[in-house]
Amino acid sequence: MTREDKDSLGICRSVTITCISEVGWHDTDRMLADIKGGGGPDASQWDKPWQANNAAGSTSLIEIELPDGSRHKFLLDCGWDEVYIQRRFEETGVDGMLARGEIEFLFLSHEHLDHLWGLQAVLRHCPDLPLRVPPGFSEKALAFIRGERPAPTRTDTTPPIRHTGPVLTTPPDTPTVLYPGCVAVAFDLPILLGIRGEQSLYFRIQDKGTVCVTGCCHQTVTSLADYALTHIATESTLYGLYGGLHIAPFGPSLSEEQERMIADMQRFGFRKIAANHCTGVPAIERMIALGYPVVPGSGRHGSSSPLMLGNGDRVVFD
Ligand SMILES: [Fe+2]
Ligand SMILES: [Fe+2]
Repeated sequence: MTREDKDSLGICRSVTITCISEVGWHDTDRMLADIKGGGGPDASQWDKPWQANNAAGSTSLIEIELPDGSRHKFLLDCGWDEVYIQRRFEETGVDGMLARGEIEFLFLSHEHLDHLWGLQAVLRHCPDLPLRVPPGFSEKALAFIRGERPAPTRTDTTPPIRHTGPVLTTPPDTPTVLYPGCVAVAFDLPILLGIRGEQSLYFRIQDKGTVCVTGCCHQTVTSLADYALTHIATESTLYGLYGGLHIAPFGPSLSEEQERMIADMQRFGFRKIAANHCTGVPAIERMIALGYPVVPGSGRHGSSSPLMLGNGDRVVFD
């Protein structure tokens, strides 16, 4: 992309991200046992015998400020267990924001259970909220959104609330401008548990540079950041990073490949890294050991570790 192409994506003044919940599940050994059951890692998540009381989920509130001073809010993902997500929404005021129409849309990074299956916690406050999904969403996922197919782990026996708003699909492999300086990009790839495609966000912040924001980053942090340099950023390094990086989501330790990926992040020159969720604590520890500018958290509200930006913690890119 030329500099003019990149500049045509616009610019924003700041982005503030509140982690509502970064905890995908409560117990990793039980999660791994459930993945192994019902056909292994490539078998569909919709047909597996998940343990409902192990579910939590990933969801974040994003607030963007534009150069004209206007502010806009949207949600990135909606977690897994609707009771847990509803509680986190209440504890952070997101329930009221949804009910008052302050949240403009829900950006679903990908179809994985820990990012999608908590949708009922959103719909109970705002059933017509516009949803933005990546290409490759399965018919099962779309039926789930329509309320025709409850999440397999749902414990509430009342009929699911039906989504009545628009469902927008981001076109693949091209920057789609959501607000000036806020861009969605969908990466087409097969992902663990029989799903396809993940979309990420990029913010071009006035006088600061580009921030990459991700749900799980199944495309790898290398692909995410390389795409920013080639298609989004006019600088040779990147400003910030937020979200799950899927480096060591299950591991108590790092493989050589995972270590290489973390070491390679150096070349992007991030000045603020607020990684959480499936990044994994060992990966965060390695980033800190390498001197990367990791934003710590408070370790409250059930977060995995105070080393990562956790539940209720906020990062500002301005
Ligand atoms: Fe995840
Ligand atoms: Fe995922």
